[in-house]
Amino acid sequence: MLLDLFHLLTTPAPHPQRRLGYRRDSIWLMSRARRCRQAWAPHLGASQAVIRAAIAATERRDTVVVLGSGPLADVPLDDLARAFRRVVLVDAVHPRPARRAMRAYSHVEALTADLSGAMALMMGEAADLDPRLPPVCAEPSTGLVISANLLSQLPIRPVARLEAGRRPLGPWGAEDGDAFGRRIVEGHLEALAGLAAPVCLLTDLDEREEDRHGRVHERHDLLYGVRLGRPERAWDWELAPFGEIARDRRLIHRVAGFCDWRR
Ligand SMILES: C[S@@+](CC[C@H](N)C(=O)[O-])C[C@H]1O[C@@H](n2cnc3c(N)ncnc32)[C@H](O)[C@@H]1O
Repeated sequence: MLLDLFHLLTTPAPHPQRRLGYRRDSIWLMSRARRCRQAWAPHLGASQAVIRAAIAATERRDTVVVLGSGPLADVPLDDLARAFRRVVLVDAVHPRPARRAMRAYSHVEALTADLSGAMALMMGEAADLDPRLPPVCAEPSTGLVISANLLSQLPIRPVARLEAGRRPLGPWGAEDGDAFGRRIVEGHLEALAGLAAPVCLLTDLDEREEDRHGRVHERHDLLYGVRLGRPERAWDWELAPFGEIARDRRLIHRVAGFCDWRR
C-alpha cells in the first residue's frame, strides 16, 4: 500500500494520463505483479522468449520500438539494448522500474504516447478515434516493432468510460461498448499492418474464470471478436491465482505470441 503510494507520487505523467486513470493503472499493474510473482513467471518468460526469437530473426538492427513497454516485466531490455543501436520504449506511462532500467543505457529512450487513439476523445479534444503509432515506427532505420502485451489493454479505459456514460460523450457516446472496443483493437492492428518493419506481437486473447475443479464460470473475449490468425506460440497466463480476486476462483488469460505477426 505504502509502496503504491510512493510510486504514485514519484511517477511523472501528463495530465490526461493522470485524469483518465492510466497512471493509477500502471501502479496497480506493478502491485499485482509483485503479489503474483510466482504465478506470472511462466508468462513473463514465454513473452521474453518470443521477443528474443524476434531479435534473432531481425536483419536490420538499427532501431527497435517497444509499444506498451510499461514496467519492462516481459520485455528483455538488456537483450534489446545489446542488439540494437537505438531502443525506443513507448507507453502512456513510464513507471519507476522502466526509468531506472533505462539509466544504464544512453541509447534507450522513452516516448510517452497514447496508442489507443482514444485519449484525446475522452478529454473532449477530438471528434473521433485517431489510432496512430509514433512516427519512429515507420522510419527506414526501424528494423523491429514490438507490441508487448498491449493490444487488449487499449480498449479497457475508453470502453469503461463509454459504458459508465462519462462525459464528454461526443458522437461516440451512442456507440455500443463492444463496437467501440473492437474499433480500438482494429485500429492498433491496422496501424501495425501498415509498417514496413517486422512486427512482433504479444497479446492476451481471452479471459476465463475457473473454480478449483477446473470448471469455467465466465469467459471474456479480450479482443472483441477480432481474430489474429494462428500464433507461433500460445500459453496460459495465470493472471489472478486463487486468493487474488476470490478464494476459490482464479483468472486465466490465453496469450498469443508472434515473432513476425504479418508473416
Ligand atoms: C500489460 S502492460 C504491458 C507490460 C509490459 N510490456 C511489461 O513488459 O511489463 C500494458 C501496458 O499498456 C499500457 N497502455 C495501456 N493503454 C495505453 C495507451 N492508450 N497508450 C499507451 N500505452 C497504454 C499500460 O500503461 C501498460 O504499461
